[in-house]
Amino acid sequence: MTEYMQKLVYIETYGCQMNEHDSERMLRLLELSSFRATREASEADLILVNTCSVREKPEQKVYSALGRFRLLKEEKGTIIGVTGCVAQQEGERLLKRVPYLDLVIGTHALSSLPRLVRQVEESGRRICETGFDPAGGYLKTPLPEQCGARVKSYVTIMQGCNRFCSYCIVPYVRGREKSRPGQEVLKEIRELADRGVKEVCLLGQNVNAYGKGAAEEFDFPELLHRIDEIEGIERIRFTTSHPADFSDKLIRTFSNVKSLCEHIHLPVQSGSDRILKRMHRGYTKASYLEKVESLRKNCPSIAITADVIVGFPGEEEEDFHETLDLMEKVRFDDLFSFKYSPRKGTRAAQFQDQVETEVKERRLAVLQERQKEITFEKNKALEGCTVEVLVEGRSRQSGQDVTGRTRSNKIVNFKGGLDLAGTLVCVQITESFPHSLRGETINPINPTDSINSINPINAV
Ligand code: 5AD
Ligand code: SF4
Repeated sequence: MTEYMQKLVYIETYGCQMNEHDSERMLRLLELSSFRATREASEADLILVNTCSVREKPEQKVYSALGRFRLLKEEKGTIIGVTGCVAQQEGERLLKRVPYLDLVIGTHALSSLPRLVRQVEESGRRICETGFDPAGGYLKTPLPEQCGARVKSYVTIMQGCNRFCSYCIVPYVRGREKSRPGQEVLKEIRELADRGVKEVCLLGQNVNAYGKGAAEEFDFPELLHRIDEIEGIERIRFTTSHPADFSDKLIRTFSNVKSLCEHIHLPVQSGSDRILKRMHRGYTKASYLEKVESLRKNCPSIAITADVIVGFPGEEEEDFHETLDLMEKVRFDDLFSFKYSPRKGTRAAQFQDQVETEVKERRLAVLQERQKEITFEKNKALEGCTVEVLVEGRSRQSGQDVTGRTRSNKIVNFKGGLDLAGTLVCVQITESFPHSLRGETINPINPTDSINSINPINAV
């Protein structure tokens, strides 16, 4: 394709890593049909807003984003499309509500994107495609043309969810659990490794359910073992896990899959058994704590992060205190906390005992304040330790620094040249901040295989 024939696409992304990765997949698909990316919406021929509807706030952002693009449509006829969860949820209603919108593409229609764009270009018709595809064709992922200097890559291994937590819109907008065939996942990761990718993050709404119920070659722990054997992949991460599906076999992978990083994101949502039951989570505070204990027994240096919702319908002060108590018991490395947000069509949205906004806000502030202290204390405890950092590139703060992450997913900045990008470096932590660490390289600069076994406390 010659340069002058290329059209430009601008993609704006809201929401989780799955959405970020979907945007990347959309771009790869469009690159195969004469588009290339631009960072300027004003010069684009096609604007796509990839949306999230998990809470009210990200959903509202979609409408304000579309409002910003209206003028471009009027001035130069830019094609405008909405993809992702809001597209799936609203469908035709979106076309009615936003008269200058050309395309609405649901979560299962992603792979049809180039064809649908072409249809709009050729016919000028407005199109809405939101059917579900039980065969899972939407999970097919074209590889990037090139990875450039990229060190890390997301890999979708499954999509959808069968759990139906009472507050959650995901099963309605992403559909039922569907796993990608294991061999296809492994092939993609081998190709990424060939292109220089060192770290993969496996994505799915509930990765622990990978392979369940399908004629799969292997389950999730087995998949981790197979990825571990791929030459060039130094680190594996995955998200998100569900505590009820978090098996002993999976816990053991943290000690017997060498490239599996010592970090787990294990959303707890609440520390109150009464609320967990109403959320339909399928575990109790005690059984969650048991999993944490077992994880730490297996892998003492593991970092644990979670999601919490405050102000779920019927949450009383004592329920909230159970959540605070759980936080003290676990001492999460970091916590992502949200005010409960009623989602149309979910069971909890119909519960009569909704909590007042001010109460939710107060609880959120208390919880976040306490977590800030814990996160900082945890970072402080790392001062003087030696850690393995996978260098990602230049630090945003200083032109002389590079930035990367420890195996436990903490950000570390240190003095160094860009030639370190993509390498594993031994760094001694000299200073800690609320959200990052600072360090300096030690000799030898590259870690040996034995760093974790010599000093497990430092293997973070
Ligand atoms: N209200 C508030 N938070 C929610 N989450 C999911 N649904 C809702 C909702 N209706 C949070 C959960 C989940 C994270 C991705 O978003 O904590 O783990
Ligand atoms: Fe939503 Fe629950 Fe499924 Fe997570 S496990 S995506 S919270 S329904």
